[in-house]
Amino acid sequence: MWKNTRFTDLVGVEHPLMLAPMAGPGTAALAIAVSEAGGLGGLPCAMLTPEQVEREFNLIINKTKKPINFNFFCHLPNVISEEADRQWRQRLAPYFAEYGLDPAAPSTAPSRNPFGEEMCRLMEAIRPKVVSFHFGLPDAALVARLKQAGCRILSSATTVAEARWLEARGADAIIAQGYEAGGHRGMFLSDDLATQVGTFSLVPQVADAVSVPVIAAGGIADGRGFAAALVLGASAVSVGTAYLFTPEAKVVAPYRAALAKAGETPTAITNIMTGRPARGLVNRFIRDVGPLSPDAPAFPHAAGAVAQVRAAAEAAGSGDFTASWAGQSAALARPTGAAELTRDLVRNCRSIMGVD
Ligand SMILES: Cc1cc2nc3c(=O)[nH]c(=O)nc-3n(C[C@H](O)[C@H](O)[C@H](O)COP(=O)(O)O)c2cc1C
Repeated sequence: MWKNTRFTDLVGVEHPLMLAPMAGPGTAALAIAVSEAGGLGGLPCAMLTPEQVEREFNLIINKTKKPINFNFFCHLPNVISEEADRQWRQRLAPYFAEYGLDPAAPSTAPSRNPFGEEMCRLMEAIRPKVVSFHFGLPDAALVARLKQAGCRILSSATTVAEARWLEARGADAIIAQGYEAGGHRGMFLSDDLATQVGTFSLVPQVADAVSVPVIAAGGIADGRGFAAALVLGASAVSVGTAYLFTPEAKVVAPYRAALAKAGETPTAITNIMTGRPARGLVNRFIRDVGPLSPDAPAFPHAAGAVAQVRAAAEAAGSGDFTASWAGQSAALARPTGAAELTRDLVRNCRSIMGVD
């Protein structure tokens, strides 16, 4: 059995492995496959309405009774000024022209909403084993209600200071998200990218700084990374990018094509897709306008105008504007089923660690 059972005991799963929440590619099928294979599956809810979350929950509960994590963003809502939006659309004007689009047309892409009253009521009704957050924690009163409903609370920290902040506000476990990680940086106490730390350095420092279990995230894509994280003091790992290569992940064709070439393409932290720093495979848009641009409006507002160009480009078979979020270990991943990947990660980690 596993030597460190702090995470498995906390959330009631067999293996110290969590499917990293991934808004967009994350599906009910992915959550079910990972949970049934003994890990902690989860549903990323940041881009879903409460009705959609309920529908996905019903799909999940029909197929598994194992613990599931429901994941939310909890950023402070920003209002975009007309001027910022106009400037951003002006910056993107050559691309709107290239695809014959009207830069003044409003975006209809789904936005990213912070966790609030309506989702809290839904979680109180569903009572999932785990609720997790990115970008800090919601209001203390909402956290207290989730705890009252029996939910374990997880959140991402990208620095030791963030880990301490989360523990002091009631997080039951900390996801230490290293710089290698794909997708949005969970950073919330600072917006200075110079504060961001690699997984190898972050995990042991967070493990020393907090008394709750630590879950390592970022760059873990095979049994070696899994074992290394446990040796560094993690009680579990959270794996994201490797699951993008499974058929259960909802990944559009240009994104899948970019992932297949991960060995030849660098990743970069970019703010031009949504307004917040996130790691993805470099494409034409990131090369032209980013990776970091002061013109990108605050999160999530940069995404609206980009989504309009992206939809037209994708319809023409191009991934030039697709946010192909991926971590630095994407090239280690191989296409396989989600249950098989979960079992492989566990088997290879155990063999390296000499665990029966
Ligand atoms: C496509 C994608 C979407 C993501 N969306 C979310 C999300 O909705 N919520 C969240 O907490 N983290 C999100 N993340 C971050 C992951 O939960 C996790 O920190 C990261 O995938 C771990 O690094 P890895 O990709 O190298 O395994 C996302 C990551 C990716 C790759």
